[in-house]
Amino acid sequence: MKIVVIQGPNLNMLGIREQNIYGSMKLEDIHGQMKTYAEQNKMEIEFFQSNLEGEIVDRIQECIGDADGIIINPAAYTHTSIAIRDAIAAVQLPTLEVHLSNIHQREEFRHKSLIAPVCAGQIIGMGPFGYHLAMVGMTQILNEVAAMKQHQAKAQAAAQPKA
Ligand code: DQA
Repeated sequence: MKIVVIQGPNLNMLGIREQNIYGSMKLEDIHGQMKTYAEQNKMEIEFFQSNLEGEIVDRIQECIGDADGIIINPAAYTHTSIAIRDAIAAVQLPTLEVHLSNIHQREEFRHKSLIAPVCAGQIIGMGPFGYHLAMVGMTQILNEVAAMKQHQAKAQAAAQPKA
């Protein structure tokens, strides 16, 4: 099972930017913890950060046939990008949206997420721990998907006429 983690603009500045909101942990340290979880659970994981909307759209598209699930924090593009929303809808992979801060407690323009309707779930306001919660949630989703596929394959085999 492979998970792709996609981080939007300015998240490369974690640990430096607005520490009162985002805390002092660096992105590479968050990714280090996610990698440890993935290794412990025998999952493959890949990380991608970009400040450019089109690059994020490209990376989402590249997940087709390559990844089983996506964890994404589109940062400011959450509130503006129909292109990122459409890309998530297009690839049809279970996707979890993460925000370090509680976007509903902040400025009104952050209250709306354009990508939430095409995501399986949203984890907000938990700081860096939210990424760990997303890993646990994604593990559960992927296990459920695998169990459903196995069940469908069994049902199909049982429905085949015996030779
Ligand atoms: C953010 C919230 C966004 O509103 C903001 O633009 C970010 C970070 C978060 O993780 O809390 O850059 O996505």
